[in-house]
Amino acid sequence: MIKQKKSWWILVIVSIGVMVPFMYPYLTFDPDKSRVNITSTAIQYPVLVAHIIFAFIAIVTGFFQFIDSIRHRHPKIHRNIGRMYVISIFISGIFAFVLFFYTESFTKAMAFLVLTVLWLFTTWKAYQAAVKRRFHEHRKWIIRSFGITLAAVNARLLVPFLLLGYTVFHTFTLPGGRDLMIDEVLNINIWAGLVLNMVIVEWVIIPKSKNPLKSNK
Ligand code: HEM
Repeated sequence: MIKQKKSWWILVIVSIGVMVPFMYPYLTFDPDKSRVNITSTAIQYPVLVAHIIFAFIAIVTGFFQFIDSIRHRHPKIHRNIGRMYVISIFISGIFAFVLFFYTESFTKAMAFLVLTVLWLFTTWKAYQAAVKRRFHEHRKWIIRSFGITLAAVNARLLVPFLLLGYTVFHTFTLPGGRDLMIDEVLNINIWAGLVLNMVIVEWVIIPKSKNPLKSNK
């Protein structure tokens, strides 16, 4: 068993546990099972499936990068998994750009666009810092990058809370009906997940994270 903090294990289990059921319909390679409305089976659907597969690789490899024993004792493995993390984000991120043109709601499309740009930018900064052996900087940027990767998880976890917030806001009535409530919540959950994760990363995790000078060797 890998020795890591309990909070790390909880994050791994929750993230994988949340994303696998969301991914499952796309692993059947059947466009009829897609939750996203598919208007093009030639481009949109394969790009969506590829986006999901590579995004999942990013989540899994991302978690490996935070295992202290691998980072400290097996730097070569850390570097190789790190490359897989960066490559999977670049592939998944470029596909997310393509999906932007198929997204039905403008609010949602803009959230995905901002998320994609930040995903690629933070990951690139983390990679560059590692190549230049600026490990303190590298750590900060990789935490930012992974925080954005996990925004996909948080966005989904926040849905029940946002539904509750919506009903409270409308004093427990649904003026536009159930469908409008779901539409409105799904238009803002990505923004909510992104903002929440950025706040957690900048105010809680980065200030607490140690300067990894040990790994500078
Ligand atoms: C962090 C950057 C990410 C961006 C910018 C992004 C972007 C997108 C876009 C544009 C769509 C199509 C949505 C639509 O047309 O309504 C989508 C769908 C999806 N993405 Fe991502 N994504 C990201 C991360 C992830 C991650 C890390 C996963 C984890 C596996 C993931 C899993 C999915 C799934 C399962 C769908 C299908 C929608 C659903 O059924 O809920 N995405 N993503």
